Amino acid sequence: MTDTATPAGLEVLDVVEDSTACLRFVAVRNEARPDLELKSPADVTSDVARAPGEVIHLVDHADTLAARLLTVRDAANVGSTYLSVFTQGDPGEPLLGDLVELAMSRARALEVPDVRCSDIGDPGHLLALQSRHEFQEGTRWRRFELDVAMAPDEALLPPIVPGGLSTDTLLTRPDLSYAAFRTAHEGLLDAPGDFPRPEQSPETWLAALEESPVSDRGDVLILHDSRDVVFAVVQLELLASGSRHACLELLAVARQHRGRGMARLAKQLAGEHARQRGLLSVSALVHPDNEAMCATNISCGWTEGAPRRTVVRLAR
Ligand SMILES: CC(C)(COP(=O)(O)OP(=O)(O)OC[C@H]1O[C@@H](n2cnc3c(N)ncnc32)[C@H](O)[C@@H]1OP(=O)(O)O)[C@@H](O)C(=O)NCCC(=O)NCCS
Repeated sequence: MTDTATPAGLEVLDVVEDSTACLRFVAVRNEARPDLELKSPADVTSDVARAPGEVIHLVDHADTLAARLLTVRDAANVGSTYLSVFTQGDPGEPLLGDLVELAMSRARALEVPDVRCSDIGDPGHLLALQSRHEFQEGTRWRRFELDVAMAPDEALLPPIVPGGLSTDTLLTRPDLSYAAFRTAHEGLLDAPGDFPRPEQSPETWLAALEESPVSDRGDVLILHDSRDVVFAVVQLELLASGSRHACLELLAVARQHRGRGMARLAKQLAGEHARQRGLLSVSALVHPDNEAMCATNISCGWTEGAPRRTVVRLAR
């Protein structure tokens, strides 16, 4: 960050190079939002290493607010500055205004069209951004969850997988990495929603997985046939390292095999893996236009909870 002054009420923390600063960010974030999964310093530094754009971590002088600004833009010029605010409710002014000012200046400097802020439920800062800072209501991502201990039969893979298909992971079948990447990449390109899709190669995908404290090759699940044709790929990611709660980071059916019920098997594979891994819950965010995925979540017995609301302000 070279061309923007930090507002007086906020401090930028170098969470990668300065371990004391990282500990401070983590402590303020975890204290402010105990309803979220507790993050460790390793989670925060790894998030920075894996982030596809500029990341700035901030706290206020009184240590009541932590915030994160992530600015990402892809080759098609789709992108945003994503503002995450960790506080109890509305942080008030001038703090919120200072954060918005900084987020807008990063969006302009890095030439992304808007600033976005999301959260689950209805925390005060989203309403405050709308009422005081000209943010407009954006996408409401539908959120589905599986309580693994209470999983109904339809949430789990049947003992014999239909269609003579087999299941593996990237740990048991590393030779399927390239085919799995192709399917995952097609899924990323085709998933509905106006989010950036940064360039990836099999190598960068695998390298990010190696460095991740929340997902590894054993969490990338593959549905394939006896000729090693990959039909679907699913990836689970823990909400924080050591957590027993996970999210579905990716679910993709290969283009030529869509429309034949594969999404259901992929979803059941995720449920089965979560059960065998001893997880307590798995959640999934789905764009409201993704009707096939919403229908699959419901037919597999995942329950719908509070959406992830997004508010947006143009950076012009
Ligand atoms: C979304 C995706 C996984 C669906 O996979 P698929 O195997 O083609 O899905 P299916 O055709 O089996 O459809 C799944 C279910 O949705 C239903 N469905 C399909 N289109 C629908 C629509 N427009 N409205 C309502 N239901 C629909 C199907 O009837 C099926 O229900 P059933 O299992 O009860 O029969 C696949 O299109 C894909 O990989 N898309 C890109 C990546 C993506 O969007 N991933 C999800 C990110 S959250």
